[in-house]
Amino acid sequence: MADIAIDLGTANTLIEVKGEGLVVNEPSVVAVDRETRKVRAIGLEAKRMLGRTPEGILAVRPMRDGVIADVDMADLMLRHFLERVLPRGFFRVKPRVVIGVPSGITEMEKRAVRAAVMSAGARSVYLISEPMAAAIGVGLPVTSPRGSMVVNVGGGTSEIGVVALSGIVADASIRVAGYEMDEAIVGYVRKSRNLLIGEATAEGVKIQVGSAYPLEEEREMDVTGRDLVNGIPKTVRVNSIEIRECIAEPVAAIVSAVRRALEVTPPELASDILDAGIVMTGGGAQLRGLGRLLERETGLSIHLDEQPLTCVVRGAARVLEDWDLYQGVLSH
Ligand SMILES: Nc1ncnc2c1ncn2[C@@H]1O[C@H](COP(=O)(O)OP(=O)(O)OP(=O)(O)O)[C@@H](O)[C@H]1O
Ligand SMILES: [Mg+2]
Repeated sequence: MADIAIDLGTANTLIEVKGEGLVVNEPSVVAVDRETRKVRAIGLEAKRMLGRTPEGILAVRPMRDGVIADVDMADLMLRHFLERVLPRGFFRVKPRVVIGVPSGITEMEKRAVRAAVMSAGARSVYLISEPMAAAIGVGLPVTSPRGSMVVNVGGGTSEIGVVALSGIVADASIRVAGYEMDEAIVGYVRKSRNLLIGEATAEGVKIQVGSAYPLEEEREMDVTGRDLVNGIPKTVRVNSIEIRECIAEPVAAIVSAVRRALEVTPPELASDILDAGIVMTGGGAQLRGLGRLLERETGLSIHLDEQPLTCVVRGAARVLEDWDLYQGVLSH
């Protein structure tokens, strides 16, 4: 049977086809012709157009805060990704789909995800909460009575889950993650340098010099944007100390969410977590020093998965492979 696992993320969409492995790993961006609404590009090609599209083209991110923000665009994007990877005529086979969703998702948002996947040609859709999928993806014993804790920091959501016996025992989910850091950097550079920079530039600053904890060697880099005073392109230098300060707020929000999840964790499971530590997943978890900061703030040991960006889709794919074992982890 042709089954499919999907992580429809705010920043990136990943798709695994059972038996074939990862077949899509691209930014969640779609570019359409403004008038005809025909798709001009999706994924990486469309991301390159963000913030620099000519008049006739519209490039958008259909996902926000982990959920569908633009239904039509999300449908288009998903359909195009699936058409790209599925053999012709496949849609008559109608795959079974497991898709990761934020644990804080509302009923209405769930319906939108289900509808998008069904309209892309699925036979049935199963939702799995992202921290659960991430936990399975990194190989934690989610069906056992032992408690395991996962912190997934994506682009639009940060989700913390304590899992045991196939369920989420304690969790916290906030709509603050990588993007809020990018936005904070845009705001800071505007205020401190009178310079307007784009989203992609801000993300580059975060990845190159961003941090959550003092670095052994602080860094600096040049940033180019448009001078707000005279409208002319200008380059300025920023350093890792000021960037750390400017993203401190979203970082602190993530730390408090981890604390909140720990506070509602039953004591028996808390002792498991003390033994095993916490696993971090998601692209945003790669922020320099985030693990160290969490270690300092919680006293627990923190591990970053080796492939943090693919944990959710790998977990969803595992569920398809071992349906009998994992059926209980699906959410309704
Ligand atoms: N080296 C890095 N340092 C800091 N942040 C990074 C790094 N690499 C990627 N990111 C950030 O990771 C985020 C994307 O991660 P991921 O693909 O896990 O999100 P997503 O699953 O699409 O979003 P969500 O789960 O919130 O819907 C982006 O904000 C990106 O800027
Ligand atoms: Mg994600």
